[in-house]
Amino acid sequence: MNGFESELEVATRAARCAAEIHKAGRGQDLEIAFKSTQIDLVTRVDTDSERAIREILQDAFPGDGIVGEEEGETRSSSTRRWFVDPLDGTLNYTHSFPYYCVSIALEVDGVLAVAVVLDSVRDELFTAVSGGGAQLNGQPLAVTERKHLGESMLGTGFAYSPERMQENLLYFEKMLPLARAIRRPGAAALDLAWTAAGRLDGFWELYLNSWDVAAGSLLVTEAGGRVSDEHGGPHRLDGRVIVASNGRIHDELLTALQ
Ligand code: IPD
Ligand code: CA
Ligand code: CA
Repeated sequence: MNGFESELEVATRAARCAAEIHKAGRGQDLEIAFKSTQIDLVTRVDTDSERAIREILQDAFPGDGIVGEEEGETRSSSTRRWFVDPLDGTLNYTHSFPYYCVSIALEVDGVLAVAVVLDSVRDELFTAVSGGGAQLNGQPLAVTERKHLGESMLGTGFAYSPERMQENLLYFEKMLPLARAIRRPGAAALDLAWTAAGRLDGFWELYLNSWDVAAGSLLVTEAGGRVSDEHGGPHRLDGRVIVASNGRIHDELLTALQ
């Protein structure tokens, strides 16, 4: 049986390499360019990090497909696909707001198998292998035990297009009086990792991409939490809404999002 040890080791090595690129780029000329809107940025650190991650993954597993934010999809005939966000939280990075990460996940036959999220500011490495639990720097992780939305701290984020932002503002307005607090830190993969680590009790967001959520959602489920769509059904990587929580507040969260 494949316990995915080597995949986890290679993904961790790739994430550490990207994190070094993040560190080296701080305070340097980032060659900022714009993607969909004036707040959707890409820097040379995003592209350099993705190139480095791809090289490591392709060298170790040449037959695997890769879906990366900056270079798109490298198809393969294999049922194994890597999802790579080389720098999640680019806006934070460009403003020296210390909350960003690398996110790498492996899906096998449509099921998430390996997750690595590396916070390149705090050097916190969040890892999970399907069925093997989630870890932070090698120590087991567990979601919180809070039972009610009213005592919960939630995370969310907003898509770059004004129309899509507006959609989540409606949810945000509904949720604000119901939760104890809502945070919007700006890196979805890390928000999910922090939900797995019990620093947030729940998280929701709209229009995230597969590379934003693949690793983080496996971390949450492996830490004992629940991840679904807005109706409580299975979350798909290309789904419109992701709802993640400690499991105990999940139904309340779903009701509030209707
Ligand atoms: C973004 C972050 C942010 C989320 C955006 C994402 P990027 O990713 O995860 O928290 O609200 O929707 O696109 O662009 O920094 O990789
Ligand atoms: Ca991202
Ligand atoms: Ca990114």
